[in-house]
Amino acid sequence: MRVLVTGSAGFIGSHVVEALREHGHEPVGYDVREDPRADVRDPAALARALAGVDAVCHQAAMVGLGSGFADAAEYVSRNDLGTAVLLAAMAGADVRRLVLAGSMVVYGEGRYACPAHGVVRPGPRAVADLDAGRFEPLCPECGADLSPGLVGEDAPADPRNVYATTKLAQEHLAAAWARTTGATAVSLRYHNVYGPRMPRDTPYAGVASFFRSALARGEAPRVFEDGRQRRDFVHVRDVAAANVAALESARPPQGALSAYNTGSGEPHTVGEMATALAAAHGGPEPVVTGEYRLGDVRHITADSARLRTELGWRPRVGFQEGMREFARAGLRGA
Ligand SMILES: NC(=O)c1ccc[n+]([C@@H]2O[C@H](COP(=O)([O-])OP(=O)(O)OC[C@H]3O[C@@H](n4cnc5c(N)ncnc54)[C@H](O)[C@@H]3O)[C@@H](O)[C@H]2O)c1
Ligand SMILES: [Zn+2]
Repeated sequence: MRVLVTGSAGFIGSHVVEALREHGHEPVGYDVREDPRADVRDPAALARALAGVDAVCHQAAMVGLGSGFADAAEYVSRNDLGTAVLLAAMAGADVRRLVLAGSMVVYGEGRYACPAHGVVRPGPRAVADLDAGRFEPLCPECGADLSPGLVGEDAPADPRNVYATTKLAQEHLAAAWARTTGATAVSLRYHNVYGPRMPRDTPYAGVASFFRSALARGEAPRVFEDGRQRRDFVHVRDVAAANVAALESARPPQGALSAYNTGSGEPHTVGEMATALAAAHGGPEPVVTGEYRLGDVRHITADSARLRTELGWRPRVGFQEGMREFARAGLRGA
């Protein structure tokens, strides 16, 4: 299969390119980082790149939480305008298969259960609570403590920041494209991806990269909140393999978007991740700072069972093994 990989010079895209090659496919790279003309917002450049292509694996995006609201237009431009231009070009070139890099951020706060009210959906956390070190969301009905659970694909979307909003809009655009053209679209809603070539720490980087970069400087990883926020850290080679599985699958229905949570299935706290990474690096030990970022969610952990059963994918890199490798792996410069 000849596959156009947008964002091919990025962290995940570069691993997708490798995985496609290993599976005997022909990846075609498309990334402004490598070629300033290869912008997903450029219809003419896309029309050229799509010639002879069987499928598109759309990884290109502006990622992360960003800084304030100043970059909102840039997120929308790259992620949503970019996706719309790409899908229009695919319709024009009659390319009818898309795999999209989705994200768990579309869910907002994860799944919670109240002992009295069952499954509830707490709203964004209040600044006053965060300032006072009250990090756990409480039951919106009765204020009771909640227990976090695994989020399924059918959970309602609840984007909590600009980036999350653009990732959700990408899915809606892909669904509209699939419906209109009868094509096949899959969104892989990645959890926290980590591994070799992860970008160094910028306001846009993921937490694993912050910690890894601190360790490389000989500094302690600074763990926000109380360190007990839960995530699912999934290795980048497993994510790349999920993309190949989605591209090769005969399962996804035509005319619709199918979403698959893409996580290791093994939730860990951010504090545990910092400890594992620091230990593998040989120190220094992490410090828990109580700082927070507005727009961060407390717990978000995926149920990736659908990806396993429908696409036959399995994560292969375990947490300890992956963190040991990541502690010494090369990061990508800006
Ligand atoms: N890293 C994670 O933990 C994570 C989690 C969930 C979802 N995702 C999604 O995975 C995808 C890849 O993320 P990543 O972590 O590899 O990020 P990255 O920044 O390493 O890679 C993104 C690539 O997209 C390219 N790009 C950006 N705008 C472009 C444009 N207009 N035209 C062409 N190329 C453009 C960039 O040059 C970059 O190389 C993104 O869609 C992101 O939203 C990542
Ligand atoms: Zn309650």
